[in-house]
Amino acid sequence: MNQWQASMPTNIALIKYMGKKPGQKNVAENPSLSYTLNDLCSTVILKEGDGNDGFEKSSQLNQEEQARFIKHLQFLKNQFDVTQKYQISSENNFPLGCGLASSASSFAALTECALKAFGKESLPASEKAQLSRQGSGSSCRSFFSPWGYWHGDKVEGMDLPYKNLIHHVIVVSKEKKLVSSSEAHQRVASSLLFADRPLRATKRLDLLLKAFAQQDWLRIKQLVWQEFWDMHALFETAAEPFRYITENSYKALLMLESFWHKNQDGPIITMDAGPNIHLLFRPDQQKMCNEIIDATRF
Ligand code: DP6
Repeated sequence: MNQWQASMPTNIALIKYMGKKPGQKNVAENPSLSYTLNDLCSTVILKEGDGNDGFEKSSQLNQEEQARFIKHLQFLKNQFDVTQKYQISSENNFPLGCGLASSASSFAALTECALKAFGKESLPASEKAQLSRQGSGSSCRSFFSPWGYWHGDKVEGMDLPYKNLIHHVIVVSKEKKLVSSSEAHQRVASSLLFADRPLRATKRLDLLLKAFAQQDWLRIKQLVWQEFWDMHALFETAAEPFRYITENSYKALLMLESFWHKNQDGPIITMDAGPNIHLLFRPDQQKMCNEIIDATRF
């Protein structure tokens, strides 16, 4: 029986994908930019099987997530008129509950693996990314490294400085979140702040790219900080508000702010749709990274 295997990394967005165009499959309302976390990967194995497409092994996906995974495999099969049935196994090299979303890497790995199984692995990364986007939007940026840029119907790499950042997550909570990011995309549309969100995100991205061009680390940090608060403000101001930031997230954010204030330097700080805090350090900040890890254990 034939089998195929593919591993793909996850990514962390500095300008967030939040809000989708209605009636379309994961079409973002605004452009987004992410840093690919090449050490944090999902691996998917597809084995030829009889019966139905299904799961052989997944220590990390619940029933609903497995159903979404199978649906994406079937979408990919339809694109290439494939009728073969497959058994799926999927795994992450980062533990469940370590504060990292796995949907970007797992959908990217499923797409990459299916394309291998269909003999389509030589498709350009931009086409693979478009297919993967339809499973989970953020996964499309994982096909580019270190920087992934998704704008309109295009996904591409971007040649920016800071190609070797150090990533660390302050794990505030290991619990599974109550509102998934897919649901968050739906709910933010009811916020009065949402109408102008595409404009704000686009402007902020422009400013961020200028700050990158000038290698202005402080300005990059400020813009990325403003961006995650902008997204979390959408959550708080939705018709049915919801939140991910907890007391401990807030404590850690305040500590990071005072660290920056004291040292006039520090990491880029961002949060996804979850309580955990993602930090990106320049390679020359390794010592600072260790210090912050020690100071922020919960
Ligand atoms: C907050 O890609 O998980 O992480 O397209 O519904 O699968 P679906 O949503 P998803 O959304 C990610 C949202 C985010 C920000 C980002 O990664 O840009």
